[in-house]
Amino acid sequence: MKIYFIAFVCLLSAAVGGTLPWGAADESQGVKSGVSVIDENRYERRGDHDPNGIGKFYMGREIAHVMGFGPGGQGADWLERSSREEEERLTLLVRSLQLKPGEVVADIGAGSGVISLRMSQELLPGGKVLAVDVQDEMLARLRMNCERFGISNIVPVKGTQFTTGLEPSSVDLAIMVDVYHEFEFPYEMMTDIAKTMKPGGRVVLVEYRKEDPTVPIKEIHKMSQAQAKKEVERAEFGLRWTETIHVLPRQHILIFTKM
Ligand SMILES: C[S@@+](CC[C@H](N)C(=O)[O-])C[C@H]1O[C@@H](n2cnc3c(N)ncnc32)[C@H](O)[C@@H]1O
Repeated sequence: MKIYFIAFVCLLSAAVGGTLPWGAADESQGVKSGVSVIDENRYERRGDHDPNGIGKFYMGREIAHVMGFGPGGQGADWLERSSREEEERLTLLVRSLQLKPGEVVADIGAGSGVISLRMSQELLPGGKVLAVDVQDEMLARLRMNCERFGISNIVPVKGTQFTTGLEPSSVDLAIMVDVYHEFEFPYEMMTDIAKTMKPGGRVVLVEYRKEDPTVPIKEIHKMSQAQAKKEVERAEFGLRWTETIHVLPRQHILIFTKM
């Protein structure tokens, strides 16, 4: 069954005083409004499922709960924990991306901005990070972090569960760090992300390695390379896997290129 959201958007728009939540952005740079159509038949619901998942399956994989900001910002504190550099080698991750000055990078599911902040300096002069998230509290914390570190080339963007709100063909590199496995609408998000990419642009998934039972995180927060490739390399996205970078202790860095 196809659910058409247009009427819903109009109702919601009226309810919130005329502001569309779809693609509505906190800042105007690089952002558009739009309306999506969702085909729920892509997804399967199962009663018997992992308690850390939402009971919704896509291409055989259960989708994890979205990581919340948490009471008192516990979720954001966890993302900013001091042990993260050692556990996830963020410096090495960013170096592996070989970012260039002037590039436009979309950090999808940016959270409180840990990865955006690190990438932003590599893009100077002239480049910027479009930091997309669905949670207002995360974006507020990200803004606070930008002010604290005096960073002005990060643009916070309020996305939705199925759209980024970014302009078509505007992004050189889109990165999702520990994010893709918790997209409630992975097909719709990838459709949108694929459209935002410039030809030759790179879509990067950083996910905990499911192939490695010693990686210390719940199974639902891991993704295998095979599963990630199956989901991202769909013909309609025009994305092709080009490389997996194996430098991190717990995650793999999968690179897909826009044809
Ligand atoms: C585990 S956190 C990772 C945050 C950040 N990437 C990091 O590594 O510090 C996942 C983030 O993805 C966001 N998120 C989940 N679904 C999203 C979607 N459809 N669009 C944008 N952000 C999303 C959540 O709100 C949360 O802030």
